[in-house]
Amino acid sequence: MAEKRFADALNEQIANEFAASQQYVGAAVYYDIETLPRLAAFFYRQALEEREHAMMMIQYLLDVGEEVHIPDIKAQETAYADGSAPVRMALEQEKRVSDEIFALFELAREVKDYRAEQFLQWFVKEQVEEVALMGDLLNVVERSKENLLLAEDYIARESLGEESGDPTAPPMAGGSAG
Ligand code: FEO
Repeated sequence: MAEKRFADALNEQIANEFAASQQYVGAAVYYDIETLPRLAAFFYRQALEEREHAMMMIQYLLDVGEEVHIPDIKAQETAYADGSAPVRMALEQEKRVSDEIFALFELAREVKDYRAEQFLQWFVKEQVEEVALMGDLLNVVERSKENLLLAEDYIARESLGEESGDPTAPPMAGGSAG
């Protein structure tokens, strides 16, 4: 059952995407406590994006008639050693997700699930953007180590992470997250 193997793997990825969403809420809370509202808003937005990724995967499984598993919630960090630590965490996290997406892509090819391969193409592109975005943000926060208000100014000036809707994105279960 090629489809079942892929569906099982995608269900695991749904759990990873929800976990990433929670992790980013944790990072946002840390910045909110530090009164760094732009960094907080950046991570609240990223948290929503991760939730959207999970909802796209759920919609895909619904569309192809496979089972959907909704994962349990694990506690996430809201305390960090310094102001760049959440961004380092996020960059590592995005690199890991890229590897997970590539492994899913490979599995889709191995089991000759062409629908799955096509579905994953958007996520391959998305991961390139997300790793680049977190790399940029890490440069900015490391350069602003002594005064993260400089990073706040940069994020506001450059509208970092505020790209508008992508018409090529796969549909989400429940429609737009608004
Ligand atoms: Fe859903 Fe940022 O990976």
